[in-house]
Amino acid sequence: MMFYWIRIVTLITVAWLGVAFNIAAAPDGQALYVEHCSACHRMQGQGGIGLPLVNTKLADVSDDYLRKTIRIGRPGRVMPGFQRLSDAQVDAVVKFLRERSGTVESVFGDEPIAGDPVKGEVLYQEHCIRCHGADGSGEGKGTGVTLSRERSFLVMPASISNKGFLASAPDQMIRRVIEVGRKSSGMPASKGKLSDAEIDDLVSYVRSFEGYAHEDRSLEEDEKPTHVYESPYDFDTTVDNVKAALTGANFRIFPDRLLEQGLIDEFSVNTRQIGVRFCNFNVLYGMLKIEPRLGVVLPCRITILEREDGQVLLVVPNLRVVSRWFNNDELVGLWDRIEQTFIDIIDEVTL
Ligand code: HEC
Ligand code: HEC
Repeated sequence: MMFYWIRIVTLITVAWLGVAFNIAAAPDGQALYVEHCSACHRMQGQGGIGLPLVNTKLADVSDDYLRKTIRIGRPGRVMPGFQRLSDAQVDAVVKFLRERSGTVESVFGDEPIAGDPVKGEVLYQEHCIRCHGADGSGEGKGTGVTLSRERSFLVMPASISNKGFLASAPDQMIRRVIEVGRKSSGMPASKGKLSDAEIDDLVSYVRSFEGYAHEDRSLEEDEKPTHVYESPYDFDTTVDNVKAALTGANFRIFPDRLLEQGLIDEFSVNTRQIGVRFCNFNVLYGMLKIEPRLGVVLPCRITILEREDGQVLLVVPNLRVVSRWFNNDELVGLWDRIEQTFIDIIDEVTL
């Protein structure tokens, strides 16, 4: 514990020195890790909301896999993609993970493995489906959530059909994972139990998830995933009011993000629109405990946009609709509380 505090103090000191003397140094991997990764993977990489980043695992993956994973993340899952970090910053995080764990990367070639996915599917059903689920995402009844997930973990098995994973892991690396398993999280080793040819078949089957399109669950006609409110103020004042209200309610605000695409078609001509992202980590943590598939940013966003006629609108997620996508009653109670927070904030802002 003491050690931990000393490290934090050191970090803060180093940050201060940097500011005070304007040192233009190479990016600090540890500081970046603390800032961007530790909330989910924990300070020492023990894992929490994110999977453990332990020595045995790091020794079995390449730096290229780590870099791609950081960049792309796992779209649709909790792991964000860090497109905003520079290449030098991503490299610094990887270097920090290597130095801290004292591991050297395993390098894998790009040659595809030509197993038989049809045989692979049969093997998958026998050996893997109980944890990874029929579609590889670890979801569903009697799959990873209940069987393989360690009670001390908040996450289910990584999704092996996720396009972020498949884009980051070459066939040879998938082969290694299947051979040696993942000691830290109960994923069994297949080497010795299955033949080399069988492992190849499994790799080809996992690769075939690439063509799998997750079903889009569309909403009923009258259900909208958002609430829309009109603001009596101009755009800039509304943005300031939202931030002040959020800060007053003890939320941490993340940097502004201009919306890449229009959220809703009806407001097609938006010259000015902004998403204010915020979070209360306790609430977030509670939600992820119940439903790890919830993205971090999903519920914590207020979008402010200005229509062509000057009317400013506030758009907030309709959590009751979103919670239905996850089909989880436990969430509803928690989300009712967050919904109330949204209403309080909107009241304060539009008063
Ligand atoms: C007892 C449950 C369990 C079984 C059985 C199991 N896995 Fe896993 N698997 C996991 C867990 C948990 C993880 C995440 C472990 C981690 O990264 O810490 C995982 C991770 C993986 C990964 C790496 C994913 C990533 O993002 O790093 C691959 C690939 C994989 N499993 C394939 C398979 C295949 C193929 C089989 C069948 C031969 C199989 N697993 C059987 C639980 C299981
Ligand atoms: C908001 C939580 C969150 C943050 C922040 C986060 N991760 Fe993750 N990370 C996850 C989750 C959850 C997974 C498992 C992906 C899945 O569900 O399929 C994961 C997976 C990973 C994996 C793949 C592990 C494996 O078994 O192959 C790596 C590597 C990783 N994260 C590194 C990082 C790094 C480095 C950062 C900071 C730059 C970071 N993560 C930030 C939640 C997070």
